[in-house]
Amino acid sequence: MRTQVGIVGAGPAGLVLSHLLHLQGIESVVIESRSRQYCEERVRAGLLEQGTVDLLIETGVGERLKREGLLHHGIKLRFGRRTHRIDFKDLAPGRGVTIYPQQKVLGDLFDARLATKGRIVFEAEGVTLRDFDRSESSARPTIEFRENGKPSELIADYIAGCDGFHGVCRPSIPHGALTVFERIYPFGWLGILAQAPPSSDELIYAYHERGFALLTMRSPQISRLYLQCKPDEDINDWPDERIWNELHRRLESDEGWTLTEGPIFQKGVTGMRSFVVEPMQFGKLFLAGDAAHIVPPTGAKGLNLAVADVRILARALTEFYRSGRRDLLAQYSTTCLRRVWQVQRFSWWMTAMLHIFDGDNPFDRRRQTAELDYVTTSRAAAQTLAENYVGLPMS
Ligand code: FAD
Ligand code: DHB
Repeated sequence: MRTQVGIVGAGPAGLVLSHLLHLQGIESVVIESRSRQYCEERVRAGLLEQGTVDLLIETGVGERLKREGLLHHGIKLRFGRRTHRIDFKDLAPGRGVTIYPQQKVLGDLFDARLATKGRIVFEAEGVTLRDFDRSESSARPTIEFRENGKPSELIADYIAGCDGFHGVCRPSIPHGALTVFERIYPFGWLGILAQAPPSSDELIYAYHERGFALLTMRSPQISRLYLQCKPDEDINDWPDERIWNELHRRLESDEGWTLTEGPIFQKGVTGMRSFVVEPMQFGKLFLAGDAAHIVPPTGAKGLNLAVADVRILARALTEFYRSGRRDLLAQYSTTCLRRVWQVQRFSWWMTAMLHIFDGDNPFDRRRQTAELDYVTTSRAAAQTLAENYVGLPMS
């Protein structure tokens, strides 16, 4: 098989890239190790920045998003049993966030790609890369894989490594060519989906001495809730009753608010890390999304950052195919990393403000309470949170 851009991974990064390239008349093939059903059932992100929503709508894959997405103009911060609202209409005019599950984003993109005869190889086995190094003579970057047990190869002009944190693309780059920046947090998140109408019309981020809690949602009937937990927490130690008890305690308030319970139909534990590799390119291989960086989930930036990367990559590839100019491709990593580090900073800051790092460190507690007090009383501080939360402008 021959194509212009070989894309490894059918997550948000790979599918948005394939879609954007198609709109510019550039051919791509997506090689994915899992089935379509698996990709569409994997429970992950739920919150889209304004720029992500605009991009999906402008490029014709936003019909269901417009119908079913829940647009929010603020979030709530809860601490000391009281709730404080950050008002985006006032602080980040014209911008909001939309609740729309990652699985639906993927479903919409699969439909769009397959409707226009886009080629996606599902359940590809043994994916490996070769001939993508820096030399111009490596004119045939190749993705090798097995499809239905049969060896296949895809030869491309360029390869996009969109295969997530555990994929093969980043490790294919020679040792020493990348610098890794990493921070692992001493906690994780226990997340549930419950058949219960959300107990708040907006997200509630709760700081509590027992640990962080977050109330979010997937639809008017489904609540999504998270609890700070140990990084290696065994989900079997968390029967539903214990989860609800803990949520009630951490979300407690003196304002007459109550948490609505319902049957829990999905639970899982996610570890938390900050991770970046520099540069995000090597020869004819470009890394995008989680393959190049991970943010802790506080602030919901992972999916949005993946989309921001591939928007830049699609523009650079379009420029190359249109005019032969390679300068945008050469600048890809530098252009992306500016936003990547802005978002890393914000996700780290939200995480540091809201989680209990060390159960008995009174200094940290006072510092966090002061930070929350500042963010909810200073317009400048609230605006800083708001403009980052709804998403910095795309470059
Ligand atoms: P991925 O979505 O990981 O997609 C990579 C794709 O590559 C996958 O389909 C994978 O199957 C495929 N792949 C992997 N290896 C290979 C291979 N060798 N060959 C071929 N294909 C391969 N972000 C938020 O913003 N909010 C959240 O609430 C949130 N919750 C999360 C919960 C969990 C449990 C996890 C793991 C992540 C969460 N994230 C969240 C992060 C967000 O989902 C990711 O940032 C986003 O999915 C990144 O998109 P991506 O396309 O870069 O990578
Ligand atoms: C969601 C996840 C987050 O990490 C966050 O900060 C906000 C919302 C969510 O899954 O809806």
